Amino acid sequence: MESPFKGDILKGKVGLLTGGGSGIGYEIAAELGKHGASIAIMGRRKHVLDSAVSALQSLGIHAIGIEGDVRKREDAARVIETTITQFGKLDILVNAAAGNFLVPAENLSPNGFRTVIDIDAIGTFTMCHEALIYLKKGGTIINISATLHYTATWYQIHVSAAKAAVDSLTRSLALEWGTDYGIRVNGIAPGPIDDTAGVTKLLPDDVKRKSREASALYRMGKKWDIAMAALYLASDAGNFVNGTTLVVDGGIWLSNPRH
Ligand code: HXC
Repeated sequence: MESPFKGDILKGKVGLLTGGGSGIGYEIAAELGKHGASIAIMGRRKHVLDSAVSALQSLGIHAIGIEGDVRKREDAARVIETTITQFGKLDILVNAAAGNFLVPAENLSPNGFRTVIDIDAIGTFTMCHEALIYLKKGGTIINISATLHYTATWYQIHVSAAKAAVDSLTRSLALEWGTDYGIRVNGIAPGPIDDTAGVTKLLPDDVKRKSREASALYRMGKKWDIAMAALYLASDAGNFVNGTTLVVDGGIWLSNPRH
């Protein structure tokens, strides 16, 4: 779909996206890039990064891929340094890396729980923390969250806890870094989004149908819907938005279809 935003709203900006090689992270990378930003994507899998960078470059976007795991502080620091070396600055940090699998709490080991907290919550904090020195010069942060924890979601105890922590740190950083440095920190909480690992791995077909039926807008979300929310928050359109997590789910969480 064609973007409703002008093509130059992020001209001269530099965006770094964790989990930017696939899914929602990639889509946000592509839309930030199409609207003028240079793009660095971070991920664990080289082949995924390589093909994402080729795809971004074929759209005319100035893009690089940097291998790294958000669970490792030294990787976070190196990836941010490389972004600065390549592009000279960092304006937009998008934390989209996430771990997930469907498992009843009874069968989830504490280490499995910790692994997802490590990726989603601590990984997000680590990236924000390492990027702060550059974001102080005028940057913004977008944390990708979820709506799982607004009520409770079957077999997602680990991710629900992790995303609740992400929302909380979005607010705390918005308060502290907004006040001290003018850094806006916001989140996006996607609902079920077509063609993502989240949905293919987590939602069986009958639940997908229920999600569609429960949505006030009677459809699943598209990655594009999330990318448009990111453009709003990253651009001057979102200049007075700080500390909020924007729910982009067509209203599905209001009715919480039983999974
Ligand atoms: C139970 C599991 C498990 C599973 C891993 N573990 N997979 N437990 N069921 N399917 C446990 C392991 O047994 C181990 O605990 C611990 O987790 C670490 O496992 P590793 O395989 O060593 O970890 P690692 O290789 O680092 O992989 C972590 C990972 C990650 C979380 C599994 O690779 C992953 O999920 N990648 C996919 C990313 C993804 O799908 N992203 C989209 C997220 S969608 P023990 O005790 O045995 O040592 C999303 C949206 C949510 O977040 C909203 C949807 C509507």
